[in-house]
Amino acid sequence: MAKQTPSSFPSSDVVFLDRGNGTSVLVHLHGATVLSWKCQGQEVLFLSEKAVFDNKKAIRGGIPVVFPNFGPWDLGPQHGFARTKRWQAETPARTDSAGNVVAEFVLQDDEATRAIWDFRFKVVYTVQVMEKTVTMNVAVNNLGSKDFDFTCLLHTYFRIPDISKTAVMGLQNTKYVDKVRDGEEVTEAREEIRIDENYDRVYMDTPSEIVVGKVADGSHSIIMQTMNFPDTVVWNPWADKAKAMSDFGDDEYSNMVCVEAGYVAHRVQLNTGQQFVCSQKLTFVPATQ
Ligand code: BG6
Repeated sequence: MAKQTPSSFPSSDVVFLDRGNGTSVLVHLHGATVLSWKCQGQEVLFLSEKAVFDNKKAIRGGIPVVFPNFGPWDLGPQHGFARTKRWQAETPARTDSAGNVVAEFVLQDDEATRAIWDFRFKVVYTVQVMEKTVTMNVAVNNLGSKDFDFTCLLHTYFRIPDISKTAVMGLQNTKYVDKVRDGEEVTEAREEIRIDENYDRVYMDTPSEIVVGKVADGSHSIIMQTMNFPDTVVWNPWADKAKAMSDFGDDEYSNMVCVEAGYVAHRVQLNTGQQFVCSQKLTFVPATQ
């Protein structure tokens, strides 16, 4: 079983946000990676059986935070350092008057980050668990005396029963860069995107609402709403790439799809003293009978 319960980890490594009635979120402080979102007892996120929890490697699954660079990076590791840094849980999780559970996680520059990216910053990541919805809010602050730019993304891995019965909807007529076809630029013609191959596309200037969901009965859907995340990356490694990844099971590609809200096609310019905020809201839509 993939480790998606708090008891699988030292208590100092994880924060458990329990909304009650089988609804909860589990966050690992390594990368502030959301490992699990259970809604009404149903796990929504994919976490690989082979994910490594050594507090070094990025966690394969859940929702890694990509900052300050999406993709290969001349200055540092692929997808930046945020997903492999230890974040601080700012305060204990709190419950508001509506019963929603909120926690904040903070990443600030240190010697190691400044050695590869010499800027003073503070990222505050706020996770809120509601009855059928979770929100993730990313606030990037430039605390230094130099302007900087960055890309960022929430690398959400959705757990799905069967990739052949899943569609991603809401991207029709948007342009994408196809990373597995030499960056070819194409306009998406389909209303229902089906995936049946190694798939790695950066959709640009996408609508603020995307649906990841069933095309057959018996499964839930997720509505993803975004703010200040203009792009959406859709990724599935498919069989050959899955085999080549040491922290991903050979057959797991059929049970996951990444739909990633990002600011990646252009860089965010953040001048000294400024703050940039972006967020995603995921809503669970139960299966229709
Ligand atoms: C996706 C990228 O966001 O992440 C892919 O578009 C990449 O190109 C994938 O392969 C996984 O990246 P990583 O570094 O976690 O193996």
